[in-house]
Formats: sequence, C-alpha cells, structure tokens
Amino acid sequence: MKFMRAVDIIAAKRDGRELSREEIAFLIGGYVAGEIPDYQVSAWAMAVFFKGMSPGETAALTDVMLKSGAAMDLSGIAGPLVDKHSTGGVGDKTSLILAPLAASLGIRDPMMSGRALGHTGGTLDKLEAIPGYRTNLSVSEFREFLARDGFAMTGQTKGIVPADRLLYALRDVTGTVESIPLITASILSKKAAEGAEALVLDVKYGSGAFMKDPVDGEKLARSLVNTASAMGKRIIALLTDMDEPLGSMVGNFLEVEECFDCLEGKGRQTSSRDLMEVTLELAARMVVLGGKAPEAVAGRRLCEEALASGKPRELFLANIKSQGGNPEQFLEMRGKYRSPHCAEIKAAEDGYISRIDAWRIGHAGVGLGVGRNRTEDPVSPTAGVQFHHKGGDGVKKGEPVMTVWGKDEASLAAALPALAAAVEYSKTPPAKRRLILKEVTS
Ligand code: URA
Repeated sequence: MKFMRAVDIIAAKRDGRELSREEIAFLIGGYVAGEIPDYQVSAWAMAVFFKGMSPGETAALTDVMLKSGAAMDLSGIAGPLVDKHSTGGVGDKTSLILAPLAASLGIRDPMMSGRALGHTGGTLDKLEAIPGYRTNLSVSEFREFLARDGFAMTGQTKGIVPADRLLYALRDVTGTVESIPLITASILSKKAAEGAEALVLDVKYGSGAFMKDPVDGEKLARSLVNTASAMGKRIIALLTDMDEPLGSMVGNFLEVEECFDCLEGKGRQTSSRDLMEVTLELAARMVVLGGKAPEAVAGRRLCEEALASGKPRELFLANIKSQGGNPEQFLEMRGKYRSPHCAEIKAAEDGYISRIDAWRIGHAGVGLGVGRNRTEDPVSPTAGVQFHHKGGDGVKKGEPVMTVWGKDEASLAAALPALAAAVEYSKTPPAKRRLILKEVTS
C-alpha cells in the first residue's frame, strides 16, 4: 500500500484535488481507529466545505463510512422496507405520523433517528419525552417490533457507522455541517446501514434548514439521489419549505402530542395543516416505493383512507407499548404535560403575520430547553412553543400568537424577546408559501 500522511490529504483537498478512495479510506479509517486526531479531520472537513467533492469522491466517502461499522441485519423480515429521512428542521416531526401511517398500509419502516442538532429538533428526544419510551433497542428488539408493529424507532447503535458518530459531532462544533458532500455521506451511510430497501428524502431549504436557499437545497437533493441510486437504492426526494416551523408545536412532548392529534384526524383544521400536507406527500412516495400504488396521487389517496380508518393511531399506541411506554398514561398526559414556566406572545400589530422565522424559533427553542448546545446536555420534555397563528393568518393587536413553556423561569424570560422578534407582520395578505417545491428522482 502507498505511504500516506493525513497532512498531504488535507493539503490536496485544500488545493481542490480529487481524492482517491484509498486516501479517503486512510483518513476516515485512521480517525475511527484513533490514529488521526480531531484537529486534522477538522481541517480536512473545512477543506471539503470550501472545495467540495466530486460525485465519485462523495460515493467513496459514503461507502467508506458505511463500512466503518456493522449493518443492521433485517433479513427474514417481510418487506417492503421503506424509510424516510429529513435533512432537519424546526418542528419537523413528520416521522412520527409517517411511520405508523406507512405501516398501516403494509410497509415496514426501520427508523434509525438522531438527536437534536444545533437549532433543529431530534426524533429521539421527542420520543423519549414519553415516560418509559426506550430508543436504545437491541437488534433483536428492533427486528421484533418492526415485524409486529410495522415500524420501530431506535438510535444509532455503537456499532453502526461509527465514522458518522465521530464526524457528525466534530462538524457540529467546527462550522462544517452545511457541506453537501458531507451531509450526503452522513445521511446515506446511516440509511444504508439501517437496512431499508428504498428511501424517501425530505430535503429542506429555508432559514430553519441547513440549506438556506432552494438552489442549494436542490443541489443537496440531487447529490443524495445520485449517490443513493449509484448504491442501488430506490429513492425519491422532495424539496420542502423550512422557512417557518412545521406544524403548530415545537418541543419534545408537544410535538409527539401534535402528531397523535394528526393521527386522530385533527391536523387539517388547525395550524398543523402544513405538517399534514408535507407528511401526506412524503407518505404517498413511501407507498409508491413500497409498490402499494403506481404513482403519488394514488399513494396519497391510500394514505388518506388509512388515516380515516384509525389504524395508524392504533399502531402508534402499540409502538409506545412495545418500546417501554404506557399508552394509557400517554393519553392521560395529553394537553397537561407542560412546564409550569409559561408565558404568551401577543400580536404586536393589527394585520397579517407574513412569516414566523424558523431559525429564530429553533435557536430560542434551544434556550427554552427543547434542544441542546452540547451533546451531553439534557433536554426538557415539557418545554416548547405552541403557535396559535402561522404565516398568512390575519391577527388583531394583543391576540395570542404563541404560548411558550421554558425549562425554568430564567430560560423562559431570556427566550421571549427572540420569539417575539421571530414574528413578522404585514398590512396586506402575504403571498402563499409553496410547501413543496419539487420532486427530485434519478
Ligand atoms: N442529518 C444527518 O444525518 N447528517 C448531516 O450531516 C446533516 C443532517
């Protein structure tokens, strides 16, 4: 094997050279083995951030990361095995509706999720707000619940893609998250290891997403679709708006509760309308990839019928029981499990809300206790925000726009000005937001 040094690989990327698979494997392998230090991998990640990677390099990085650990063995589980993954947002909770919905239509969803990162929420933190709910399933538990309930929700086990666990934490503190090839390899290495045969991707753009504008969002979607296709996975990506938080709640238990309300059919009459729209469009693609419908319109019809049948609601409760929670207790806690430290944000003007800035809400949410600043920080199950109005709604000055719960009085007081500043007003009705910009396929 050729003699290699990390410093030469960093310099090559800094100068814009395409790295070979061997060089990428040397760097990532050395990092996972503890032979290459954080500071060299940070410098390399920053060079990738500025110089990018070719499709070949991105595919090689994804494969090297995937092979840094074990893959989940889902052999013997009757499929189709279809998952959905989002690039991350604020109030982005579609997984909790999608998984039981797809399962009710005969799809198996093996969902391996993450925790809150920066200003974006994490599915595991939300689920753990249900008392007793476990997200550290063993492989045999994961298989058992997946086969029985049609879906299972777990965190990334130690053995699965260790390279991503290390690299993700490093990127989070070195300003290198927003890199298309690094996001592509991070997401697809985990998704390939989790065992799904097909994947629907929700690629977000807007202030609350890692990609701020739709052009970069589309580039990320194409990178993900092309790399996944080259790996032999069937994949569809939707480019969706994350300029405003999705749905009516941001918070851990609050978001679980909102999803359950949506499973009970209450989503379309409330500020959860945008959440239901994005969820149904994603679910429709899962149904298509799972071979249950020929195209998305027919897939969506099946999803609407399934929701009306009540079966997804029952599967959601069955999953709570399987993963250690108590469904009766969960039902009892709805509407009540809130922090006692509460305040309201009222409309500052008569007129219309033109926009509620997702980025500001996400950052204020971290301060309230919804997310974390350091990996080891705890999150609060009962902190968060409920929106009584969203962008496009008419309001009268003094009317409640948000109810806010903080993990304590000091966090609540500190977050209120930022939350109020997140609401933008106009005298005339704002243009309607396009929730789904486009579909990207291979
Ligand atoms: N989600 C991931 O799994 N990885 C990233 O790099 C960004 C979002």
